[in-house]
Amino acid sequence: MKTALVTGGAKGIGLAISKELVVLGWNVVITGRDATAIDSAVAGLSIGPGKAVGKIMDVRDRSSIDSVIAEIRNEFTSLDSLINCAGVIIRDESEVLSEADWNTVIDTDLSGVFKCSQAAFADLERSKGATIVNVGSIAGSVGIAGRAGYTAAKAGLEGLTRTLGLEWANRDIRVNAVAPGWTRTEMVAGGIKDGRLSEAALTARIPQQRLAEPSEIAKVVLFLMSADSSYITGQTITVDGGITINGNT
Ligand SMILES: NC(=O)c1ccc[n+]([C@@H]2O[C@H](COP(=O)([O-])OP(=O)(O)OC[C@H]3O[C@@H](n4cnc5c(N)ncnc54)[C@H](O)[C@@H]3O)[C@@H](O)[C@H]2O)c1
Repeated sequence: MKTALVTGGAKGIGLAISKELVVLGWNVVITGRDATAIDSAVAGLSIGPGKAVGKIMDVRDRSSIDSVIAEIRNEFTSLDSLINCAGVIIRDESEVLSEADWNTVIDTDLSGVFKCSQAAFADLERSKGATIVNVGSIAGSVGIAGRAGYTAAKAGLEGLTRTLGLEWANRDIRVNAVAPGWTRTEMVAGGIKDGRLSEAALTARIPQQRLAEPSEIAKVVLFLMSADSSYITGQTITVDGGITINGNT
């Protein structure tokens, strides 16, 4: 049975990915910072045939990442896939965005992905046909006002995906990313709640006229983990209902 480590796996897109994996018979190690959320996610994943376990891990903290990788080495036969899904967004105009908020977003959404990938490398290399899938964002390829840290981190993530894909192609590790558009999770719900986002205004700009469901992002992550994508590496696949191809004003 194969094993995947899903960062930020207790909620939203990470939880949807974990569900798909358990149903397909993968062992899934759900990681995050919130023990209550992890416990509740693991309890909801007793749907087999795969097994879900939860572990506390902060993607900004290399020692906590190393501990979890070591535990996976002891508890499972292999580590076959790393899904870098943990992320935060902080919405503020650039002229007032604090250095602390900038650092939080870059440390989580960009440096966290590098740290987890580097920490998992040796174990992934021992697996046959290992994969890393990074969860980026359309913010990696367009500007979004009030999201300086987030757009910079997600654009950086696409560059990191290309370089890790290049460096590790001959080590039998494929590295790809998905770039979701607006997806129905707590991250977007938070923006709607604090009045910075309007679902009606968002929907009006999306050619498919609706937000994505987390499962629609998860399906593409699973494709990038599977042998069906065996000749794809270093790529970012946009899953956004057409918003980034919409040139209409
Ligand atoms: N929802 C969207 O519209 C959308 C669009 C594009 C990209 N994304 C990306 O999808 C990913 C998942 O977001 P989501 O929408 O499911 O939001 P979410 O808030 O539901 O999930 C984010 C998860 O990351 C975890 N996390 C945050 N900081 C962490 C840290 N330092 N260490 C470990 N875990 C941490 C959170 O606890 C949470 O479980 C993020 O990378 C986000 O940028 C989301």
